[in-house]
Amino acid sequence: LDKKVRQNNLEENSFINYKKMSENLAIVRSRLNRPLTFAEKILYSHLDDPHGQDIERGVSYLKLRPDRVAMQDATAQMAILQFISSGIPSVRAPSSVHCDHLIEAQVGGAQDLDRAVSVNKEVYDFLSSACAKYNIGFWKPGSGIIHQTVLEWLAFPGGLLIGTDSHTPNAGGLSMAAIGVGGADAVDVMAGLPWELKAPKVIGVNLTGKLNGWTAPKDIILKVAGILTVKGGTGSIVEYFGSGLDSISCTGMATVCNMGAEIGATTSLFPFGDRQYDFLAATNRKHVGDFAREYAKELRADEGAEYDQLIEINLSELEPHINGPFTPDLATPISKFSEAVKANGWPEELKVALIGSCTNSSYEDMSRGASIARDALAHGLKAKSTFLVTPGSEQIRATIARDGQLQTFEEFGGVVLANACGPCIGQWDRRDVKKGEKNSIVSSYNRNFTGRNDANPATHAFVASPDLVVAMSIAGTLHFNPLTDKLKDKDGNEFLLAPPSGDSLPAKGYDPGQNTYQAPPPNRDAVSVQVSPSSDRLQLLSPFNAWDGKDALDCPILIKAQGKTTTDHISAAGAWLKYRGHLDNISNNCLIGAINSANGEANKVKNQTTGQWDAVPAVARDYKAKGIKWVVIGDWNYGEGSSREHAALEPRHLGGLAIITRSFARIHETNLKKQGMLPLTFSDPADYDRIQPDDRVDILCTELAPGKPVTMRVHPKDGSPYEVKLSHTFNEGQIEWFKNGSALNTMAKMAQN
Ligand code: F3S
Repeated sequence: LDKKVRQNNLEENSFINYKKMSENLAIVRSRLNRPLTFAEKILYSHLDDPHGQDIERGVSYLKLRPDRVAMQDATAQMAILQFISSGIPSVRAPSSVHCDHLIEAQVGGAQDLDRAVSVNKEVYDFLSSACAKYNIGFWKPGSGIIHQTVLEWLAFPGGLLIGTDSHTPNAGGLSMAAIGVGGADAVDVMAGLPWELKAPKVIGVNLTGKLNGWTAPKDIILKVAGILTVKGGTGSIVEYFGSGLDSISCTGMATVCNMGAEIGATTSLFPFGDRQYDFLAATNRKHVGDFAREYAKELRADEGAEYDQLIEINLSELEPHINGPFTPDLATPISKFSEAVKANGWPEELKVALIGSCTNSSYEDMSRGASIARDALAHGLKAKSTFLVTPGSEQIRATIARDGQLQTFEEFGGVVLANACGPCIGQWDRRDVKKGEKNSIVSSYNRNFTGRNDANPATHAFVASPDLVVAMSIAGTLHFNPLTDKLKDKDGNEFLLAPPSGDSLPAKGYDPGQNTYQAPPPNRDAVSVQVSPSSDRLQLLSPFNAWDGKDALDCPILIKAQGKTTTDHISAAGAWLKYRGHLDNISNNCLIGAINSANGEANKVKNQTTGQWDAVPAVARDYKAKGIKWVVIGDWNYGEGSSREHAALEPRHLGGLAIITRSFARIHETNLKKQGMLPLTFSDPADYDRIQPDDRVDILCTELAPGKPVTMRVHPKDGSPYEVKLSHTFNEGQIEWFKNGSALNTMAKMAQN
């Protein structure tokens, strides 16, 4: 294992370190003395301190050293802005940025791409110049979707990747532990700090039998989602194994891993085998495959490894499924689907059928879909529904253009969109139905929550394999089951569609298409990062002020939030996505969704200095302008939802000092600490009820020390002052973050020294 093998063909100096990984594993094995699951092997082989690390599944927090970072263009903006302000000259882990989220589908690939390049010019210019400056690989708009590019070019078996996007686990199809994180985590890893993850539990899925006929890899995860539901994978890695793996392609396994995000799983994994080797060889990475074969015994679970939960699926009996509407875990087998449509009154006409996305746009998916379209064309039929195709990568687009599948889709009546997320992330200028009009669409994508694709809450979105999506588009109705229902050809004769077929890898090899990759230049000193001072979408970050060393006295309560306060309530998404790279502008959404306990309303709080009622961000800005530090009082599990760092950056930017709650969602709590705020919890949760929105509070910051409570003196509007104890989870290092003003300031200080 003591060889220098490159991770990929693009980066000269990124190597696969199986030697170190196997040494780490040997240390952990000698401590745990039990067989390990594959998921555990990848994580434990990346431990920062394999000797000292506590290891208990579902309990300990692991400190890990990921091999790579991947970021998509929406989340990369703030991550890179933060990295820049750390003052570190170059990323300390191989990193890449992928432009895929900002391209709106309107008329078709080439024109949509041109429009996006001009509309998003300042964002792309910023990302491309910052990537060049800080040694990050940059995939230009048109390259394809982050997870496809990672799979086709960057992933390697046994590696650990973090990505600032929920569907990062796609690379599990290539036996890599790939985990979706927030931007703040990406910044840590790029800055060379270890990354923390609660040691996941492991759910085993034993696949037996053989995929056949109309059943596709997608149906495995649609079935698993039905069993585990959208919450069932939380805190767990889902690991697949069993004799059934032989009938699934590497890209099919990636589809299964990709959609593990829909059950909340930390990530999903398939062991390394011939399918992965073949995919690596087909994508010009035979050297990676050969090296992985030498390390193969650690690229699967040990004999006798134990799982926290075990699921059995016989692929020979697995039916195609359709999941939805409105949630990906409402799984219905195709044989029962027509009945379910009637019983639930779902709109029967299929308006739009969409294939592609990061979940399902492999060569195999496109080939199988095209085989169905060709069958229809041979019978004189085309798609009755609107039919849209998003190729997952430029390489796939070029290869299916060369091999004919793309022309088949066009002949079939389809429109081929840009290599990008498009309608999957709501970048879809849909015009065939009005907002509010009930209608059905079926896609091979992964998420189908209300309004996700077209911002129409009345759209019933279903997810299925690309095979079913293509077949149903021919009939134009949700009642069509291609396994049993006949279609009428152009002469009125009935026929049954043939089951789909297609190669998993292109016989003539992949055609890489246009070169859309920008490697960092050799001389990076000469590069300057482009941010226009007049931009409303991008703003360089200024470091937050360090703590003044004093207790904070007489602080107003900006809002006493009641009930659920998720990261969406704290920093809304939707139209605000546009401002993800501009902290001051996006701060205008700060806490606008939180419910004020004083009036039961959102975004209406009393300015304690003027007595006027106003929007939350406006009041916060007024306090800040007057030099007044403020606090937020929150309820249980404050900050649940996502790892969005904006939810912590915004209150800090607007002058907040402390968020005091009954309890925190852990990731948000850490994010607040990183931004130099004080996340504190009532030692006695009943104290939440004693505090009134008009009270003033003193926070005795000088008491902050690991494991000791902090005192809050409350000055009620009417009545005598009293003291409340606040707990916290700060350790020594994190207290430095508070003192220096943020984790980044601390890093910058270290970088200077
Ligand atoms: Fe993009 Fe949709 Fe995948 S938004 S990254 S295609 S889940």
